[in-house]
Amino acid sequence: MAATLTRRKRAVHHCLTVHWYGARRMAEGTVVIVGGTAGIGRELARQYAERGRPVVLTGRDYERASGVAGELGGGCSGCGFDLAVPETIAAGLAGIEAPVDHVVLAAIERDQNSVREYDIGGAIRLATLKLVGYAEVLHQLAPKLHDHSSVLLFGGLAKEKPYPGSTTVTSVNGAVETMVRTFAIELAPVRVNAIHPGIVGDSPQWKDKAEVLANVKSKTPTGRLVTMADVSAAAVFLLENGSVNGINLAVDGGWVMM
Ligand SMILES: NC(=O)c1ccc[n+]([C@@H]2O[C@H](COP(=O)([O-])OP(=O)(O)OC[C@H]3O[C@@H](n4cnc5c(N)ncnc54)[C@H](OP(=O)(O)O)[C@@H]3O)[C@@H](O)[C@H]2O)c1
Repeated sequence: MAATLTRRKRAVHHCLTVHWYGARRMAEGTVVIVGGTAGIGRELARQYAERGRPVVLTGRDYERASGVAGELGGGCSGCGFDLAVPETIAAGLAGIEAPVDHVVLAAIERDQNSVREYDIGGAIRLATLKLVGYAEVLHQLAPKLHDHSSVLLFGGLAKEKPYPGSTTVTSVNGAVETMVRTFAIELAPVRVNAIHPGIVGDSPQWKDKAEVLANVKSKTPTGRLVTMADVSAAAVFLLENGSVNGINLAVDGGWVMM
């Protein structure tokens, strides 16, 4: 009986391994997670590190990024640069060695902005971070990617459902939808996809905002909030599936339809 259970466990582990790594994976390159010190990026870094993959996670500050990398352990290391100052990105990424298997662009600096009370400084920082910063990261890492590499951009469903103060967030996440297509063509055969979460209930950004969460839940057809686990599972699918390319995937329990 014990031997049977062990065999079953081994079989399950094998299935998970194939799902994660893909049947044709050979050498294991680096997974770069930009915006990996917190929230969903950190959760993805944790999952890849747990599976023994070399991970470089980034944030604005090298010490903080290295500290988070140390907490996650495994083959994780940290790297610091400010995406809103794109001229500094090349130096920040210079130490990353080829091959790079996956690049995740998850960073965000939230900007509360509306056209009537417009903060130019905040808008410029967020627009630069996602539109120029994400592109510059890929420009710098492109020579280190290989034919089976993949890229994942994070947008968000503020692109479909604006809220008061979302002027810049809605604009940049809308732009992510189109960036995916140009990057997928330009970087081919590297695959490029984007994920657009709804409100992620257990993310650091939202977990303490009970009123907002109750409202979102009541308007979500699944009757539950999106979780970090839901988003990271979808992210891994987009990163690992060898034929999914140029996709903008909503992960929202159907909230956007309501
Ligand atoms: N959470 C949600 O409910 C939700 C919903 C829709 C879409 N999204 C999208 O999902 C992604 C992750 O969101 P999250 O809530 O998990 O993020 P988060 O917890 O706020 O973490 C943001 C990350 O971005 C980094 N970062 C911030 N400003 C930066 C800059 N100027 N340069 C470089 N790195 C910078 C932060 O690092 P440091 O602080 O260490 O610098 C941190 O690692 C974002 O792109 C967001 O638009 C999230």
